[in-house]
Amino acid sequence: MILAAAGTLAAAVPAFAQAQQPAPDPPAKLSTCLPCHGRDGIGTSPLNPNLAGQKALYMVKQLKAFKSGERRHDQMSLIAADLTAEDMEALSDWYAAQPAGGGNP
Ligand code: HEC
Repeated sequence: MILAAAGTLAAAVPAFAQAQQPAPDPPAKLSTCLPCHGRDGIGTSPLNPNLAGQKALYMVKQLKAFKSGERRHDQMSLIAADLTAEDMEALSDWYAAQPAGGGNP
């Protein structure tokens, strides 16, 4: 029984590992975000939110909301105004792929 369960687990682990997305290349505009969100998505001050491990779709939605004015913040609204939809997706994919607790500087 225990052996059978262990065999099932061992078989499941490679399948899970293959399902992980490879880390994307650093996006072109990542340097814009570094001062506040870090390369690894860990906020550099108490008011800068961590983005590491956040859902990519949620981040794209927030960036679009900053750009449209639906969500307002002095700094993020200005920054998002200069991002294309492709930038938003690339940056969100990057931060979503970073470990939530940091550790990938
Ligand atoms: C000058 C500092 C600064 C820079 C540069 C900056 N951000 Fe932000 N960002 C913030 C702050 C502060 C907030 C929180 C806004 C609020 O309080 O509503 C935020 C919020 C966000 C959010 C929403 C997070 C959430 O949990 O809702 C996303 C996504 C985001 N930033 C992405 C980016 C990206 C991508 C870049 C680079 C293109 C960037 N930011 C550059 C300071 C910055």
